[in-house]
Amino acid sequence: MNFELSQNQEAIRSLAQNFAETELAKEILARDESGEFPRELYDQMGRMGLIGIPYPVEMGGQGGDYLSYILALEEVSKVDASMGITYSVCTSLFCGVIMNSDLPAEKKAAWISPVASGSALGSFALTEPNAGSDAAGCRTIAVRDGNEWVINGSKCFITNGPVSDYFVVFTTTDTAPGTKGMACFMVPKGTPGFALGKRHNTMGIRSAAVCELYFTDCRVPEDNMVAEPGKGFALAMKALDGGRIGVAAQGLGIAEGAFEIARKYMMERVQFGKPIARQQSLAFRMVDMQVQIEQAKYMLYKAAIDKQEGRPYTESAAKAKLVCTDTAMRVTTEAVQILGGNGFMKEYHVERMMRDAKITQIYEGSNEIQKLILSGKLFR
Ligand code: CAA
Repeated sequence: MNFELSQNQEAIRSLAQNFAETELAKEILARDESGEFPRELYDQMGRMGLIGIPYPVEMGGQGGDYLSYILALEEVSKVDASMGITYSVCTSLFCGVIMNSDLPAEKKAAWISPVASGSALGSFALTEPNAGSDAAGCRTIAVRDGNEWVINGSKCFITNGPVSDYFVVFTTTDTAPGTKGMACFMVPKGTPGFALGKRHNTMGIRSAAVCELYFTDCRVPEDNMVAEPGKGFALAMKALDGGRIGVAAQGLGIAEGAFEIARKYMMERVQFGKPIARQQSLAFRMVDMQVQIEQAKYMLYKAAIDKQEGRPYTESAAKAKLVCTDTAMRVTTEAVQILGGNGFMKEYHVERMMRDAKITQIYEGSNEIQKLILSGKLFR
């Protein structure tokens, strides 16, 4: 496999890096404190063409390849993992659901365009209070009434919920129990009977907006059906395969961001008469982390290229998610330790990165769920 970046991929990577280091880095401590979602910065990413990189131009995207998108997401997440997940949910999950659906091309274009172009945000509404890892336990129900569907139920932990314009909502239906009856509907913000619930107060990725959703006799036209009953669960799973590559990129970016802070710190921080980089035990720990980051990077790019080239990618996505996010947790924890008392201080950033890293091991299928998927395939 060739991991040499093309000129185009390198240009996108460097565009995202520059934006992250100059724009996203500003006020990041204040955003972590306040939890405010920086809509203007997101809009700027849209204007730069970053959001819809892997989607066709006629769908509001850039017609780029998947690896370019993953490189941009990695760069964004090195600095701002909150923006990383907002970006990933819009691009991988929301647009991914529509792209992978059986809808006609014009319909896909109409629904993907606003989000892929960055002028609107989208959410992926699957999780419920009693349907987390067991996504098939979904209780939100859609009942047909003439040429409308009436949705009742609730969702939780919905990334971008407070700021999204469009929601792909997975429901069970009255047609069959469990996954056999699962469908998916497009529910725009402001649809009568659809309300945003409490915004969650989170440990990390604090400026990503996450909330509950409530549906009370919420009516959507038949035309808003993204997946018919029986096809919703597989559509959610397929989108999550892509989403997991996104979370892997987010995790890798966090690890790389924290690693670089620790590396620079070790060359400047003098104790016992020499920079701590010259303490062999610390330097060796850094080498172990450097190697782990590089291994994780290969697994991430392999998964992205599998997807890009049309090969099955459920397994490579699960492996990349597992390895990159465990790397994020390990490297950020080590970075805090290496920076010592300063690592515990907000202005050195690594404590935020450690808090941000934790959720990457949990969402879009916890790392235990990734092992369930992989062990299922191992012993088929
Ligand atoms: N692609 C396509 N179809 C798939 C699939 C995939 N990757 N995985 C499963 N399916 C299909 C199966 O083929 C099967 O189809 P048939 O019924 O036709 O045979 C059907 O889906 C059911 O499959 P399983 O029997 O494997 O389903 P399960 O109930 O045992 O669940 C699971 C499997 C892997 C545990 C799944 O429930 C899962 O991934 N759980 C984690 C959920 C998750 O990731 N949630 C994250 C929500 S989003 C988020 O985190 C928040 C955010 O906004 C960032």
